[in-house]
Amino acid sequence: MTNRMADPGTAEILEGYGRFVVPSYARFPVAFVRGKGSYLWDAEDRRYLDFCGGIAVNVLGHASSVVAKALAEEAGRLLHCSNLYYHPMGAKLAETLVRWIGAGKVFFSNSGAEANECLFKLARRFGEPRGAFEILTAQGSFHGRTLAAMAATGQDKVRQGFGPPVPGFRHVPFLELAEMERAVGPATAAILVEPIQGEGGIRPATRSYLEGLREICDRYGLLLLFDEVQTGAFRTGRFLAFQRLMEGSGKEAGFLPDGIAMAKGLAGGYPIGATWIREPYADLLGPGSHASTFGGAPLACAVALAVLEHIEERGIDRQIQEKGEWLRSELQALASPDRGLVRFVSGVGGLLGVHVRRDARTVAQELLDRGLLVAPAAGNVVRLLPPLNVSTEEMSEAIAILGAASRAEEATC
Ligand SMILES: Cc1ncc(COP(=O)(O)O)c(C=O)c1O
Repeated sequence: MTNRMADPGTAEILEGYGRFVVPSYARFPVAFVRGKGSYLWDAEDRRYLDFCGGIAVNVLGHASSVVAKALAEEAGRLLHCSNLYYHPMGAKLAETLVRWIGAGKVFFSNSGAEANECLFKLARRFGEPRGAFEILTAQGSFHGRTLAAMAATGQDKVRQGFGPPVPGFRHVPFLELAEMERAVGPATAAILVEPIQGEGGIRPATRSYLEGLREICDRYGLLLLFDEVQTGAFRTGRFLAFQRLMEGSGKEAGFLPDGIAMAKGLAGGYPIGATWIREPYADLLGPGSHASTFGGAPLACAVALAVLEHIEERGIDRQIQEKGEWLRSELQALASPDRGLVRFVSGVGGLLGVHVRRDARTVAQELLDRGLLVAPAAGNVVRLLPPLNVSTEEMSEAIAILGAASRAEEATC
């Protein structure tokens, strides 16, 4: 496909945003007009290797025929249908998610923050009979930008300038079990964590931390909730990151949280959020207690089913485990404890954090200038989130660009 000659240039597009779009995002000065696989093209027809991937959304890359086919077919059959009624796609997708996670039920929404909002309401419903409403979350966590999700987020900067936060959230140091247990009080209803902190800098939990949280929740009668918005949809090589982190523990089959928020990559770029709720609590949100006009519409469910089944049927989940390990070891070879750009690498599968010596945003801009897109995170970390079907050649290209940036850094030191 050639560039559409009628497309406006970068300057014109940026000017349009400047004049008419609310400036709530710190955007990089580039405008993309098309994509294919692991690549994006800007308005000047320059090609970029996309390892930002819509921040863990484009699991099958850009312009995927799987996504396009499912979209076209369902749009021509049943695009939207009110939640006053039933449709086959909702039942089918929910059944698939339950099969991959464990006995329970699913509430559908449209985004990560909404998937978390369902968890917040579940926790409050659960705690209500004994007057409990509080949710303990981790420092450095990120749970979204609605008022409640902002309050849940363990980073003060996201709340600044928005008045009093929604009550009922307290933040405890991540990976500190004793501190978490000490924080539990009579008003506590649930604990919510990301199995791997994403925005917080690709910080994976340990297996013993997840097991310890489960024990605390069981001991004090709390719900254990996971935010897998960024880590789910096979990004780590298993459907959910907690399943990957629990591998080899011997307790993997029996380990489950009580609720899980998912979104981002579930439908490969089409918006959808989903909240899985474990069996004994799955009916707590009864008729009239929670709703979303667009949540679980046939189109979103059909695309998610097509994307997720494609990943499973083609073994793309297992492939990204191996590819991720290779990418990680190649990146680690660029790292040095005392000099150069890269300090060390963290993460699993297709969710990798390159810990750099300079401001993550500056490094992301430099890599963009060299033709590689990455997603900055907190703590001087740039995230690599390639499509799960990325090729070895594309990974080698990313390594070469990062290697060149690293050598340039050393030359200026
Ligand atoms: C872990 C986590 N939770 C929630 C969200 C919010 O998702 P959304 O932007 O779809 O509302 C994000 C977004 O980055 C996330 O990474």
